[in-house]
Amino acid sequence: MKVLIIGANGQVGKSLVALCQQNNIKYIATSRQDLDISNKQNIKSYFSNLEVDFVLNATAYTNVELAEDEVELANIVNSEAVGWLATECKAKNIPFIHISTDYVFDGSKAGMYAEDDITNPINVYGASKLDGEKQLQENWYKNIILRVSWVFSEHGNNFVKTMLKLSNSHEKLTVISDQYGAPTSANSIAQVMLDICHFIEKNPNFDAWGIYNYTDFPMTTWHQFASFIISKNKQAKTKEIQPILAKEFKTKAQRPQNSALDVNKIKLNFGIKQQLWSDEVNRVFDILEG
Ligand SMILES: NC(=O)c1ccc[n+]([C@@H]2O[C@H](COP(=O)([O-])OP(=O)(O)OC[C@H]3O[C@@H](n4cnc5c(N)ncnc54)[C@H](OP(=O)(O)O)[C@@H]3O)[C@@H](O)[C@H]2O)c1
Repeated sequence: MKVLIIGANGQVGKSLVALCQQNNIKYIATSRQDLDISNKQNIKSYFSNLEVDFVLNATAYTNVELAEDEVELANIVNSEAVGWLATECKAKNIPFIHISTDYVFDGSKAGMYAEDDITNPINVYGASKLDGEKQLQENWYKNIILRVSWVFSEHGNNFVKTMLKLSNSHEKLTVISDQYGAPTSANSIAQVMLDICHFIEKNPNFDAWGIYNYTDFPMTTWHQFASFIISKNKQAKTKEIQPILAKEFKTKAQRPQNSALDVNKIKLNFGIKQQLWSDEVNRVFDILEG
């Protein structure tokens, strides 16, 4: 099996490269320098000589706050470019594994979101990611769209690293306590993407294409998640983590109150096992502490 990893410098992209190396999976990794997906012609010429079994898209415009101002750029990367990639995958009959987000929902549901629940994004980023899902589905049926939430890793910027940094210097922190979701490691997502590729490769008659939720477990709040992270930081100066309601925490982009994703479909169809996010945080700490 040989895969193309697009967006190899991001959290999930780096995790995909690491797992391919550890498991002797053949791969081509591209960063923005090798393949800027915001240009259709770049994609066309890159794909002209491409020979791989799967395309794994780990690129995205992920700055949720800035997206409120940079609407056009967010839409090009998260939506239009996904359609262009899908068209090239179709021309070469390559299955396309893509990543989407809990932010396609408005968060008003009382229970967990299933894949076929009604979408209603409440910020520009979420709307652009939902458009990307549609672009992909309209252009190429051999797609898997993995909706994930609250991504963290040892790489890049994310909540775990922010809490770690802030707790090294702040005695008091304020963290939102009324948004619910499941932190999910980039490593878990990368593993799920590769497991899905192996599954499809082993099942030539596979036809269960489409949207799947995946998150680590269990559900929590940002406040509880922060408390866990800080409890693991031996250098932490933080003595108080004050809960705050989302409505008191001013941000440009609105975020869903409930991000709970039901993962039964991916468990049933692919036999995927959910990871504990606490194990994944411990793994990230081990790596960061060397
Ligand atoms: N982060 C989260 O909390 C979260 C939550 C739910 C879903 N997701 C989804 O999960 C997936 C992976 O997210 P992540 O956290 O790994 O993202 P990330 O760390 O921000 O990485 C995204 C990568 O996309 C690349 N990229 C952006 N524009 C590009 C362009 N025009 N051409 C080529 N590459 C471009 C970036 O390149 P540079 O390194 O050059 O900037 C970056 O390496 C995304 O689909 C995201 O929407 C993320």
